[in-house]
Amino acid sequence: MKLTGIALALLFGVGQPFQAPQRTLRRGARSTMRMALYDGKYKDELRETAAAMTALGKGLLACDESTGTVGSRLESIGLENNEENRMTWRNLLFTAPKLGDYISGAILYEETLFQNDPAGKPFVEVLNANGIIPGIKVDTGLTPLFGGEEGETWCAGLDGLHARCEKYYAQGARFAKWRTALRVGPNSPSKLAITEAAHGLARYARICQEAGLCPIVEPEILIDGDHDVATTAKYQEEIITKVYDCLQDHGVLLEGSLLKPSMTVNGVDCKTKASPAEVAELTVRTFERTIPAAMPGVVFLSGGISEEDSSIFLNEINKIDRKGPWRLTFSFSRALQSSCLKIWEGKPENVDKAQAQLVARAQANSEASKGEYKAGSQPSIEESLYVKNYVY
Ligand code: 13P
Repeated sequence: MKLTGIALALLFGVGQPFQAPQRTLRRGARSTMRMALYDGKYKDELRETAAAMTALGKGLLACDESTGTVGSRLESIGLENNEENRMTWRNLLFTAPKLGDYISGAILYEETLFQNDPAGKPFVEVLNANGIIPGIKVDTGLTPLFGGEEGETWCAGLDGLHARCEKYYAQGARFAKWRTALRVGPNSPSKLAITEAAHGLARYARICQEAGLCPIVEPEILIDGDHDVATTAKYQEEIITKVYDCLQDHGVLLEGSLLKPSMTVNGVDCKTKASPAEVAELTVRTFERTIPAAMPGVVFLSGGISEEDSSIFLNEINKIDRKGPWRLTFSFSRALQSSCLKIWEGKPENVDKAQAQLVARAQANSEASKGEYKAGSQPSIEESLYVKNYVY
């Protein structure tokens, strides 16, 4: 049958104003509608912050260890865990000459965000003067996940989060971090642990954006265990997929957010060690399958991998000709600070050497973020930095 122009016009409503189809839900049917994307007053600033944090050749210095964790580090070099020593240590890090050439942002613990340097200048000003954006850890830590598998945890900190974020923004923080951790074991990560991790990260990220803080979304896969690299890759793909599904459900503006994952490595007790090339290939493959192109950058954690291995893995990752447009850079704590701390030994006469060591590792990682690092070209402490059941 041939349809005339008039019949076609009647059929398709030509000339009628466009009307979006009405969504009427059947009784008992569930809505699949996502929350509207964050479109508030910080939307441009969030994008700019994320872009500045992942500027070419730059990465983050993570020094947001809780008071207890930084305390055990200080005690390892014979220093007491008191506020003055914590301040002295962080001042050493922030004032390392030329650190700002390689570091775009520093993740702080709340105490440091509100602390002054030895001369009475707020640390926020010290960092800004060195071209380093101050950020803040906002989660309140991991607690047992009842109903989950053995050893599984969930990450707390949503209560009162918006008010805290407003206070942190007023103090000068421009980005935030929330670290949740997933364990690989015979029956884990469980579906419950993955769902809970993704949900917490999405709620956190949206709340931060409402207060002007660019959220770093950190679903760490712990290296504890004897699983091989293929197992890590399988779970990481599932976890990151779920995380982005939830971020989009919560209307998180992906352009104003960053991802902080682990590199895809085998468990520390696995007999077969993945080569840097394998780590790189699986890490990039996972991202290509799971991360939307709108999200501007990945800032890896080091997770107990040694300083030199972290740089080598990051370098291999950046040598791959990937499909995605994201920057792939670093946000290391242990893999940036460990040898610096040991060289310092808490002694004023070692400050220059310790700072030079920090900057050397920062430079190594800067080069690695461009695929230009030559293994061994910067000094490091070769021993493994892995600590069993590490608490951040
Ligand atoms: P590590 O690099 O020591 O794993 O720390 C990462 C982190 O989450 C700190 O913010």
